Amino acid sequence: MGKVISVCISKGGAGKTTTAVNLAASLAVSEKKTLLIDVDPFGSSAVALGFTPDKIKAGISEIFNFTKSIAYTIHKTDIDYLDFIPANINSIQLDEKFSKVTENRVILKNALKEARMKYDFVIIDCPPVLRGITANALTASDSILIPVKCGHLSLYAVDRLFQYLEWIREISNPYLEIEGIILTMYESNSKVTEISERELKVKYGEYMMNTIIPVSNLLNEATFFGKPLCLYRINSIGAIAYMNLACEIMEKMKKNV
Ligand SMILES: Nc1ncnc2c1ncn2[C@@H]1O[C@H](COP(=O)(O)OP(=O)(O)O)[C@@H](O)[C@H]1O
Ligand SMILES: [Mg+2]
Repeated sequence: MGKVISVCISKGGAGKTTTAVNLAASLAVSEKKTLLIDVDPFGSSAVALGFTPDKIKAGISEIFNFTKSIAYTIHKTDIDYLDFIPANINSIQLDEKFSKVTENRVILKNALKEARMKYDFVIIDCPPVLRGITANALTASDSILIPVKCGHLSLYAVDRLFQYLEWIREISNPYLEIEGIILTMYESNSKVTEISERELKVKYGEYMMNTIIPVSNLLNEATFFGKPLCLYRINSIGAIAYMNLACEIMEKMKKNV
């Protein structure tokens, strides 16, 4: 049975989508059958994978409204081992309806029961909010990967998330583990990075991933052209960093078997 990992923190621009897409792509090129699910109504993962609206036939909207089976919402991607479920919440009316149905925290977990048998990994790209849809993602997950961009309020965002995780463990998923905290858009020789990293290590040292994702404009550029970085510039530092992250996660899983 595949491992379900949510990429989550309640801060926009932290590198969630970039991490979810590039981690999923790196796992897939390592021949791990991977399903990426976008549950952020903003729908950025689709853009990062080059899915224009005309290529999207169904998505989380149908899963949460019980109108189509999950199999129908799965899209093939340019990478053989990578499948994708987009977030097709394209209107304010739909968004409103969606936030109501997601109050039921177990919809995604139930929908994934069969699908996760077919994959080695399911990666979920979360929105920057700690409610409804995120509660669904975390209830359906084995672990959470926390991307942190060093800077103003980064420690505060992690503190808040840890409180939320306690609540999720109490109400709907006692088995939820921390995959790790991954530093993104890392700038060496920056005072802000140095101070934020030090603060995080003091409080959350045991959860820090060994891999660090450096700041790299190519990640931005690849997203713009609708490709994971490993399909755009495989030998770039960003692509190698995400491959290292995938290896670290695969190694950890091997140890726990
Ligand atoms: N390592 C990186 N180096 C440079 N830019 C990055 C990096 N990671 C993400 N970005 C850019 O930062 C912005 C926010 O990233 P994104 O992954 O969309 O964050 P979130 O999903 O948390 O809102 C995007 O424009 C993205 O292309
Ligand atoms: Mg995002």
